[in-house]
Amino acid sequence: MSNTKTYNVAVLGATGAVGQKIIETLEMKNFPIKQLKLLSSSRSAGTKIKFNDEIIIVEEAKPESFEGVDIALFSAGGSISKVLAPEAVKRGAVVIDNTSAYRMDESVPLVIPEVNETDIQAHNGIIANPNCSTIQMVTALKPIQDKYGLNRVIVSTYQAVSGAGAEAVEELKDQAQAFLAGEDLHAELLPVKSESNHYPIAFNALPQIDVFQDNGYTFEEMKMINETKKILHHAELSVAATCVRLPFFTSHAESVYFEVEEDTSVSSIQATLKHAPGIVLKDNPQKQEYPTPLDAAGKSDVFVGRIRKDLDDHKGYHMWVVSDNLLKGAAWNSVQIAESLVKNNWL
Ligand SMILES: NC(=O)c1ccc[n+]([C@@H]2O[C@H](COP(=O)([O-])OP(=O)(O)OC[C@H]3O[C@@H](n4cnc5c(N)ncnc54)[C@H](OP(=O)(O)O)[C@@H]3O)[C@@H](O)[C@H]2O)c1
Repeated sequence: MSNTKTYNVAVLGATGAVGQKIIETLEMKNFPIKQLKLLSSSRSAGTKIKFNDEIIIVEEAKPESFEGVDIALFSAGGSISKVLAPEAVKRGAVVIDNTSAYRMDESVPLVIPEVNETDIQAHNGIIANPNCSTIQMVTALKPIQDKYGLNRVIVSTYQAVSGAGAEAVEELKDQAQAFLAGEDLHAELLPVKSESNHYPIAFNALPQIDVFQDNGYTFEEMKMINETKKILHHAELSVAATCVRLPFFTSHAESVYFEVEEDTSVSSIQATLKHAPGIVLKDNPQKQEYPTPLDAAGKSDVFVGRIRKDLDDHKGYHMWVVSDNLLKGAAWNSVQIAESLVKNNWL
């Protein structure tokens, strides 16, 4: 980064699954930080976290915590963002919010830098980071939309437990060990902690991510539907989603069916995606080459494979999209937004 200016940065939710990856990403990308403030609830206040060669003590988040902060990366849950984001903005910070609190707010840009970076300019202090499942799908769809037009998208997801936070990762580990030891499985968290029924995730598949809406879709499915239209600036796009939680730790996988407007071919779509920003094409059925969640874990790209033409609709195609939900799906995308703010002087 050519800019030599440095910034006061705060990470809210620093002890969580996403927060920890934000800290690692800031360090890895050598983000120009003057001072880094790490915030959590009172439960984790006092925790020590290493950043570069420094040990930083996590503090309990309060409105005053944002005094003097230039950029605040939020990942502590929607209700906390609702309360603390306006407080941070009031004190002069620009908030990059990983929760669903502001994503569909018309005055808040919802941004994937490879897709709609310039939307950031219109911010009023808050920029929303899209849902993890939305980010990877839309990063892959955007180059296709630009070249061939897009009418319809139908997605089924295969989502990792880390998408439900650090506690869900522990629950899967405990249940897997219990299952293999022939013991009873205790489910207290998934599919949704605050709801009355919980089901084991170990060796299982749960067709519910987040709470059900009146229309029969879950909130996760509605996030994918609504956020896709907003990010692609395509209100008429038909989008349907089925979101499923599976028992692996990291990276979401998605089977995406899409219909284009102009005739094209598998090889043209492959060529388009091969040169698209943030995408790695791994698509060679002859050699059994396609992305899997384990390969994608720890990497910042969106991996695409299994591109094939629908057998009944000549404008329909299928593809398989995999990405690390905690990196491109959350931390990496948020830090990319922060870099864009700095690089373009959009703070
Ligand atoms: N996991 C993903 O793949 C993913 C992807 C995109 C977006 N998100 C979103 O990011 C947010 C965090 O997700 P996560 O998976 O990182 O959850 P998580 O592992 O459960 O971590 C939650 C973090 O928020 C903090 N927190 C909780 N209540 C707080 C409060 N009242 N005040 C201040 N801090 C508080 C926690 O601090 P304590 O340690 O003190 O409890 C912890 O640092 C959620 O809104 C989620 O939807 C997650």
